[in-house]
Amino acid sequence: MRSEDLAPILLAWYDRDRRVLPWRFAPGAAADPYHVWLSEVMLQQTTVAAVIPYFLAFTSRWPRVEDLAAAPVDDVMAAWAGLGYYARARNLHACAKVVAEWRGGRFPDDEAGLRQLPGIGEYTAAAIAAIAFGRRAVVVDGNVERVMARLFAVSEPLPAAKPRLKELAATLTPDSRAGDYAQAVMDLGATICSPKSPACGLCPWRPACRAQAGGIAETLPAKVAKAERPTRRGMAFWLTAPDGSVLLRRRPPKGLLGGMMEIPSTEWREAGWSLDEAAPSSPLVPKSWRLLPGVVPHTFTHFHLELVVAAGRTSAQAAVRGVWCPLDRLEEQALPTLMRKVVRHALAKAY
Ligand code: ADE
Repeated sequence: MRSEDLAPILLAWYDRDRRVLPWRFAPGAAADPYHVWLSEVMLQQTTVAAVIPYFLAFTSRWPRVEDLAAAPVDDVMAAWAGLGYYARARNLHACAKVVAEWRGGRFPDDEAGLRQLPGIGEYTAAAIAAIAFGRRAVVVDGNVERVMARLFAVSEPLPAAKPRLKELAATLTPDSRAGDYAQAVMDLGATICSPKSPACGLCPWRPACRAQAGGIAETLPAKVAKAERPTRRGMAFWLTAPDGSVLLRRRPPKGLLGGMMEIPSTEWREAGWSLDEAAPSSPLVPKSWRLLPGVVPHTFTHFHLELVVAAGRTSAQAAVRGVWCPLDRLEEQALPTLMRKVVRHALAKAY
């Protein structure tokens, strides 16, 4: 198989077997840059399956970039809750404002212009330029790196191999149908050329794949062994008032879960916390804290976290830093997944 045949073969496969996704336009229809941008920012976080309900919720609530720009940033953060990496949601809103207020609602149509916008990096700029504007751009995410490493049997481990994999991706990227091609390689990586047990028997590129020929597809891409994730520990304070509301606090704007709401918690560190030691970090000292059985586990990119939860009651909604939130309105808050787990744990164990 000649290398110039690879793109047409993949595009023929895409025309037949592409995934039907809510941000994908019908063949021949113009792409909506707002939808492409929104989906690509969301897809950097997580899988297609996890993104679909968020994409549908955002676009039905904010049908145009101007609507998203006009929304209070807290509403956007709350709607993003559960997707992770909350700085991205803040940048998403900042980007919508720039596009709506300074550019008349139009996204720049090339990579260099897109890169100027908040939260748009190399990958996202290339993806939007190709998918929304048909530009020839080399779009490389983790799926594409895996496909290239296998197709060309690149044994050098990631991340050092990244520049080489991008060069190889560039050699295959066609001048026409650049957006379909970008999505086709990503679909191939997500469905057939999967990390474990790739379905080589179904792959349109199988005849050209050097890793498949050498029987090493599943071992690629090689990766430098990652350091073990350490475990950190903290204590969260589930403080309720007689009317059944619970105290929430906003996290500082910078850092992990920046600007999101939380059940107030201690610092997260390696050593566990005793109640005596943790109580001074609590929003106020009720007559007694009661330690709930069990822990709330959560894994971030760089560490595991275990939170124990202490439950306490106040006699009235005390004037403390934070907001009192009725239990039936917790859904509306910008509570990240970790804090939703804490709420579930407290509701199961404290009553
Ligand atoms: N992953 C990230 N963006 C994608 C897209 N547009 N199509 C398929 N998979 C993707």
